[in-house]
Amino acid sequence: MIVGFERSDDAGVYKLSEDLAIIQTVDFFTPIVDDPYWFGQIAAANAISDVYAMGGKPLTAMNLVCFPIKTMDIEILKDILRGGLDKLKEAETTLVGGHSIEDNEIKYGLSMTGIIHPNKILTNSGAKVGDALVLTKPLGTGIINTAIKGGMANDKVIAKVSESMAALNKNASLAMQEVGVSACTDITGFGLLGHLSEMVRGNGFGMIVYAGKVPYFPEAKEFAGMGMVPGGTYRNKDFFSHWIRFDSTVPQYLQDILFDPQTSGGLLISVPRGKADSLLIQLREKNVHEAVIIGEVVAEPKEKIIVY
Ligand code: CO
Ligand code: CO
Ligand code: CO
Repeated sequence: MIVGFERSDDAGVYKLSEDLAIIQTVDFFTPIVDDPYWFGQIAAANAISDVYAMGGKPLTAMNLVCFPIKTMDIEILKDILRGGLDKLKEAETTLVGGHSIEDNEIKYGLSMTGIIHPNKILTNSGAKVGDALVLTKPLGTGIINTAIKGGMANDKVIAKVSESMAALNKNASLAMQEVGVSACTDITGFGLLGHLSEMVRGNGFGMIVYAGKVPYFPEAKEFAGMGMVPGGTYRNKDFFSHWIRFDSTVPQYLQDILFDPQTSGGLLISVPRGKADSLLIQLREKNVHEAVIIGEVVAEPKEKIIVY
């Protein structure tokens, strides 16, 4: 085993030979949007993302399905699975099986297997002092999903965040593999600051986040101001505050957005400063247009993240 679960990394990695390792990861959850086809796509993009975050190539997938078959129309399940399958095709992966059980509540996700060269693995702890931090998708999907559940979001907003959550991190991963970077993780349940805390924890360096540069959906600001903040945001704040220092100029709504748990969020890439521009060019060429530099890795203060 090369990467295990002790550092909350994105996936497990097991070495098979000198030039081949397998990456394994699993993820599933309850519907976050009402449209079953979109839900299937998002669940699949989210599950595959952990392979991309390690710098790997996803190969095979297995479906995990919980469905109330006695009380719900089977067409809904078919649409979910079609969404998942379409994303797997886009990711050039093969569905090899799966398992389904009867359950009162729909749940869907996948277990993914990928491959990587053992020397090319990107963990969440490889960042180096002087690196630039690049984020590839806007934040705020947790807050907006809460607004969707509360019936507060209009169709246009729902379509916009669904599209973002369903977007594969494939091109972002290919871009960083081409350029060569220090570390990567995908932004999911811990929120941006939670995942950054995992990157500095025990590693002897710190980070600066330029709050004004972090991309987010404008609706997230609006909904956060209305109190549509998911429970996970508060759990992330409680758990990770030890690593974070906010400048007094960072407004409350933005603090909420920075801790907001994401579904199928973007990649957070730590790249040597001298390669940051070529990474951004590669990302643009591969249509990852939202990617921007949001911070840097610094020697001091150790194991703290300053947000200003
Ligand atoms: Co992950
Ligand atoms: Co995951
Ligand atoms: Co079985």
